[in-house]
Amino acid sequence: MHRCEFGGDFEDFWAITKHEDIVDVSGKPHLFSNREGPMLLSRAQKVQAEKRAASPLGQMRTIIEMDPPEHRDFRKVASGFFTPRSIRRLDGIVAESAWTLIDSLGEEGECDFVEKVAQRHPLRVLATLLGIDREDEERVLELTQQLFGSDDPDLQRKGEDREKAQMEIGLEFYQMFDRITQDRRAHPRDDLATMLATAKMADGSPMGPIETFGYYLIVFTAGHDTTRNALSSGFAALLEHPDQLELLKRHPELSKRAVEEVVRWASPVNHMKRQALEDVELRGRQIRAGDFLTLFYASANRDSDVFEDPFRFDITRHPNRQLGFGTGEHACLGAHVARMSIRALLEEMGARIESLELAGDTSQIHASFVVGLKTLPVRYKLKPRQR
Ligand code: HEM
Repeated sequence: MHRCEFGGDFEDFWAITKHEDIVDVSGKPHLFSNREGPMLLSRAQKVQAEKRAASPLGQMRTIIEMDPPEHRDFRKVASGFFTPRSIRRLDGIVAESAWTLIDSLGEEGECDFVEKVAQRHPLRVLATLLGIDREDEERVLELTQQLFGSDDPDLQRKGEDREKAQMEIGLEFYQMFDRITQDRRAHPRDDLATMLATAKMADGSPMGPIETFGYYLIVFTAGHDTTRNALSSGFAALLEHPDQLELLKRHPELSKRAVEEVVRWASPVNHMKRQALEDVELRGRQIRAGDFLTLFYASANRDSDVFEDPFRFDITRHPNRQLGFGTGEHACLGAHVARMSIRALLEEMGARIESLELAGDTSQIHASFVVGLKTLPVRYKLKPRQR
């Protein structure tokens, strides 16, 4: 645990790096609040956030920015959909997404694995969940990259005022989700989009339009880049550890454990922020009310008090108490969907790969919140699908 101070250019914070401390802080939302949002902000980002707050969409808060009891009321709206039993209905869609993407690569060749596979698989799954039409998927992909890549010159929207561009991206998402909401209210189906469009709060009142939009947006944005980065970092790790790739090919039944190891290794969410609501002592250090704490998941996921030989990538690791999905009050709502998506791709690739190797240099996304690979060039030979 370390106090990090930046003289005003960045928010000062306590770096929480031990597994035990992240579990402790995450389980005490009455002491450590989410209301200041999940991301550490630079001075410039803070100014932008204040400007955004003055606009109508800026009023929007999503569940990751709420504390109990409000958080529990809002989380309940969708939590029933995300239980392991309920998401079994996605099995077919997730498996189909995995094999169609791998089929689309052909029998042999070279590609950027991020572009062709890792980013498309979660997109297909989330688009199905949220009722986004197939023909809108490319546009949504572009918008998501611009929204999340706003710190990366290769991904951000070109030639425009950053603040204006962010507002326009928000508005495009709003228009698309509003169309879906209207459609599901008129023609309900058995899907998450309908659940959100017709949701009622604990007091029986309908969820407001901004809150409904916030829900669509948090599910989509929280689910996309995280899963993409887990997949690309996971396959990069398998390429760097060919013995583990061989193991997965020979023992597809290891895929369940492999998912946990991939998420531990990748830790796609680098940090989540909390704010102390009271003076409190942690590991003998005095935290003051109002101080920020930053939970560093990659660090907790390499804590040698919890993981034996933590810098070894081992798809047989068991038990694996990885914290990549967070824990406690805000533990990832979509963790089972993410696990299902990653597993389907590991299994399909494991069954189809004849050879897979790096075909060039990888590059990292310039980001500090959701982190991972921008490109993963690979050369491959694949077996046809066993039908
Ligand atoms: C490998 C993929 C994923 C990773 C690593 C991941 C990680 C996380 C983390 C670290 C948190 C915050 C936990 C905390 O503050 O304690 C979170 C929250 C959340 N995640 Fe995920 N996530 C992933 C995929 C998904 C998917 C696929 C969805 C939706 C389908 C999703 C929806 C959410 C939502 C809605 C929240 C906010 C929960 C709350 O505030 O109560 N995530 N996720």
